[in-house]
Amino acid sequence: MTANEIRAAFLDFFQRRDHIVIPSASLVPENDPTTLFTGSGMQPLVPYLLGKDHPAGNRLANSQKCFRAMDIDEVGDNRHTTFFEMLGNWSLGNYFKKEQLSYFFEFLVDVIHLDPRRLYVTVFIGDEKTGIPKDDESAAIWKELFSQRGIAAKEVSLGSGEEGSRTGMQDGRIFYYGAEKNWWSRAGTPDQMPAGEPGGPDSEVFYDFGTAHDIRFGTYCHPNCDCGRFLEIGNSVFMQYMKSSDGSFALLPKLNVDFGGGLERITAAAGGNPDIFRIDLFADIIALLQHYADEKQYDDPKHTKSFRIIADHIRAAVFMIADGVRPSNTDRGYMLRRLLRRAAHHAIALGAAQGQEENNELVRCAMLVVEKYKEAYPELDGENVYKKIWETIWEEEKQFARALDMGKRAFDKIVSAEGALSGKSATMLVTTYGLPLETAIDLARERGIDVDEREITETHKRLMDEHREVSRAGVTQKFKGGLADSSEKTTRLHTAHHLLLAALQLILGRAVKQRGSNITQDRLRIDFSFERKVSDEELKEVERIVNEKIHEELPVIRTLMSKSEAEKLGAQQEFGAKYPDQVSVYSIGPETATDDDPKFEKAFSLEFCGGPHVNNTRELASIIHPDGPDRKGSFKIVKEEAVASGIRRIKAVLL
Ligand code: ALA
Repeated sequence: MTANEIRAAFLDFFQRRDHIVIPSASLVPENDPTTLFTGSGMQPLVPYLLGKDHPAGNRLANSQKCFRAMDIDEVGDNRHTTFFEMLGNWSLGNYFKKEQLSYFFEFLVDVIHLDPRRLYVTVFIGDEKTGIPKDDESAAIWKELFSQRGIAAKEVSLGSGEEGSRTGMQDGRIFYYGAEKNWWSRAGTPDQMPAGEPGGPDSEVFYDFGTAHDIRFGTYCHPNCDCGRFLEIGNSVFMQYMKSSDGSFALLPKLNVDFGGGLERITAAAGGNPDIFRIDLFADIIALLQHYADEKQYDDPKHTKSFRIIADHIRAAVFMIADGVRPSNTDRGYMLRRLLRRAAHHAIALGAAQGQEENNELVRCAMLVVEKYKEAYPELDGENVYKKIWETIWEEEKQFARALDMGKRAFDKIVSAEGALSGKSATMLVTTYGLPLETAIDLARERGIDVDEREITETHKRLMDEHREVSRAGVTQKFKGGLADSSEKTTRLHTAHHLLLAALQLILGRAVKQRGSNITQDRLRIDFSFERKVSDEELKEVERIVNEKIHEELPVIRTLMSKSEAEKLGAQQEFGAKYPDQVSVYSIGPETATDDDPKFEKAFSLEFCGGPHVNNTRELASIIHPDGPDRKGSFKIVKEEAVASGIRRIKAVLL
């Protein structure tokens, strides 16, 4: 069966069992500031799992687009991808364990015809600390389900992966593991969950490809072993707990089921081939790439990884672009940039790069992705979307080519000074020029310089982790900053908010300080210190200046620096906010500012801020004008009032 057939069969199976099929939510989460991308089917449904009534009822199913950034470095083996489709079904307080496990088993065995003898399952062993019991209920249901197919299913208690490697399968079929493996919440194990987070024990199904165990992964094999023999193809989460502020677990108002299964993995199991890049969705993309890289074959172990990375990254990029993400240096945009540049790097490595042609190999792969998915995901269909996709990819490739030129020059300087490529210098090339790490390493190889790939990769990872710590400080700042979410509309208003504060200070004096802010998708609100009513003339002038800055098309630049440096520059701080030692600062303008040279002294606005922001103030120009951006006055002040003694409030919109 093809992946499209399996997706359709899954949805049909649940529709016949009184489920309503709901559309996939966007990859860009709408009201969830906790993550950059939708990474599981349950994320958009959290309010309903917590007890709110879902308009479509309490039996739901879908196929959700997911992106997991943390898997990016794993891509290249036979089963990891960044983007994937999660088949899901939910019971919102309707059915529970018995129906759920029976449904999924029936689907696997009777609909897609997996041999039940190749299926192995895991259940939760229980947790003394929180008092959450061992899930022998699920184990008993599984025993019965296997027995109906003539299979005697023995239970084995492993507890942990280490114990599994030590003791192996022991003829078991149903395996008990602890919270590391059989507990699911967005935040991880019960210990890792913040108060208010829902979670629960889960039961996973593994498919046995029957390949030989690889002892590099442990003495013996077991379902959760990473050697590749077993592939997890579905997870039924019994979402019934919520963590309380005292660390204990309370029952949710309803017993819910949150099921998720990777479509690509289920398709691989159905085809009996553990390499998920062999499934039809990827096979054509790889065939197309092979056509460009005429001498290099997917089957040649030297090249397999490059083919997989390109296929995965281009597919993820297509879905991101269709959901409105654009390459940039922060957050989601940065991830898209990384995907496209890495794909470009590997296309060059395969000799498949067609250079700067509009219709080059990456664009062709992207269009093939669109072809394969547009029926199931109509947001990929339509001339405008096709155009956005190829233009974005092509544009980024051109930028990458420029970055590569500059990066090569920087590389030669470093190497002539240092005689080698250290992890630190490689990381500098990555963060300053936006080169993928692989590119930096390959540049060294091309020039015949010995590279210690392991040292470079490890140092790079450590430095990037440190960098992420700093960014995380930025994220905390962001939600302190009064943003309701990080949608495109809110982001535009957020940048307008910075322009407004700077304009107010220009007209009313530097004594004006921000005292509070709140930004939604529809309007911004700023509270600031000022002793009297702001006159209509002053408001008009403030409005005019903000619009002028929009039309001047000023770059918006984010810089990470120490708190003391930011204070020295006079960056605006939020009243009463406590900042960490490393902060993120946003500057707007001057026109000639760049990431490398932000020209702070000439900036129109400079604020401590975690973002997100648009890349250029031109993105604030009107988007609703039918003839294209209305360059006159998209920014409007709608209200000015007092909120407390010495504090004024302005509400404003972008038309
Ligand atoms: N929410 C569960 C998962 O992502 C189904 O694995």
